[in-house]
Amino acid sequence: MKKTKSKILTNKIISIYGLGNVGGPIAAAWLRAGAKVIGVDISTKLLNEIKNGISHKKEPYISETFTSALKNNNLELTSDGVLASKNSHIKIVAVPVGLKGHKIDLSSLIHVTKNIARGLKKNDAVIICPSIPPGTTEKIILPILEKNMLKGERDFHLIYNPERIYEGRALQDIEENYPAIVSGLGKKSTNFAQSLLGIISKKGVLMLPSLATAEAEKLFEGVYRDVNIALANELVDFCKDVGINYWEARKAANSQPYCHLHYPGTGVGGLCIPVYPRFVIEQAKKLGKNMRITEFARKINDEMPVHCVRKAIALLKNKKKAKNTKIAVLGLGFRGDVTDSRLSPTYTVVNEFKKRGYKVSVHDPYIHLDNLLPNDVELSDDLSRIVDKSDLIFISTDHKIYSKLNKNSFSKSKKPLLIFDGRNILNKNNFKNSIISTIGMN
Ligand SMILES: NC(=O)c1ccc[n+]([C@@H]2O[C@H](COP(=O)([O-])OP(=O)(O)OC[C@H]3O[C@@H](n4cnc5c(N)ncnc54)[C@H](O)[C@@H]3O)[C@@H](O)[C@H]2O)c1
Repeated sequence: MKKTKSKILTNKIISIYGLGNVGGPIAAAWLRAGAKVIGVDISTKLLNEIKNGISHKKEPYISETFTSALKNNNLELTSDGVLASKNSHIKIVAVPVGLKGHKIDLSSLIHVTKNIARGLKKNDAVIICPSIPPGTTEKIILPILEKNMLKGERDFHLIYNPERIYEGRALQDIEENYPAIVSGLGKKSTNFAQSLLGIISKKGVLMLPSLATAEAEKLFEGVYRDVNIALANELVDFCKDVGINYWEARKAANSQPYCHLHYPGTGVGGLCIPVYPRFVIEQAKKLGKNMRITEFARKINDEMPVHCVRKAIALLKNKKKAKNTKIAVLGLGFRGDVTDSRLSPTYTVVNEFKKRGYKVSVHDPYIHLDNLLPNDVELSDDLSRIVDKSDLIFISTDHKIYSKLNKNSFSKSKKPLLIFDGRNILNKNNFKNSIISTIGMN
């Protein structure tokens, strides 16, 4: 999809700080809109991969866009954030903001902001994308940018524009699926943001009245998901006690437009949903408040991996000693069909089995390298290698390929086949005479 270049982009260079899951697709969206882009990342490995045309995660169109832009001199790659700031007019920040323990870690964002400040010029624009606690852009970012005598709004634009992407279809989300959420430090920044973001966002731009409101909006999306997943996990337990199938009840309940019951599962992972509620909880604590529902939902979701391991072990009926029992865990990705395992519940699943003395190995079709699994836990994309001779199969991630499995896929596993389906992804008709425990089913 080649677009005509907008006038705002004439003679303007855009630098993008952080070319990961979010920054990579942002860079691609601007290149597809006809902009000249400087991609900045501290990972020289990542920069070399892009130069060599190696696919950008599991995202369609990104790698091809980078390759053709490099050929046409529309994309420059560097790890020098100060030079990139000097040489660009619009600076977009997409570095991670996560947690260190329970503390919010703004170190990458602050580091990048300092680099930008050293190259900031009159009439430049700075756009902050990571999800951050309300107040961060104005109270932490702005003072750093103003250190060199330039004043926000008077001399440069400051904008907050949270990225609303689903890994695996990020570019489509940016360009087509949702309106861009935008807020500026003042009227000038806001107007500039509206015209600029309107170029790449087909669904238009949703203007918010303050930077803090836009920052909060993004966190609320995550809190909503986390709380509702926790609710699903709680209702699953209730369904078990009263002997009903959660999935059937959910489907009927959701046929009414005010009900949006979520999927239960082995846990909530990734850099977003389990993290944003913590931002809210921590910020509220500083203000002397408790976010009771948000905090309790976090606790429920954090407990799910261990809860599911207990249910899976119940299938074994203690026939063999744990050390002679082989568990095959399917899926390391934090969610189905992603290459990202950050904060994946599978780590807790594996550690819990190990703690109880079981032998564990992990299958994932997309993740080939990992340094967080225990050393003696094999990770492979070869399904039969992982499941052969296994005593129990534990499905942790809803990779689509698992929905196609049938009992022949596990022909060399011990009989009867014991499966814990923590994502309700198996087609049960393919597993006659197997013993399957599915989350939400009795
Ligand atoms: N992953 C998602 O689905 C998602 C969705 C919406 C919003 N977000 C937000 O976007 C932020 C970024 O997430 P991500 O998934 O792209 O992270 P990521 O880890 O995939 O990518 C971040 C990139 O930034 C680079 N980086 C780190 N510190 C840097 C520095 N000081 N200078 C230059 N580059 C640096 C890293 O090398 C990496 O390539 C998150 O904090 C989150 O708030 C993520």
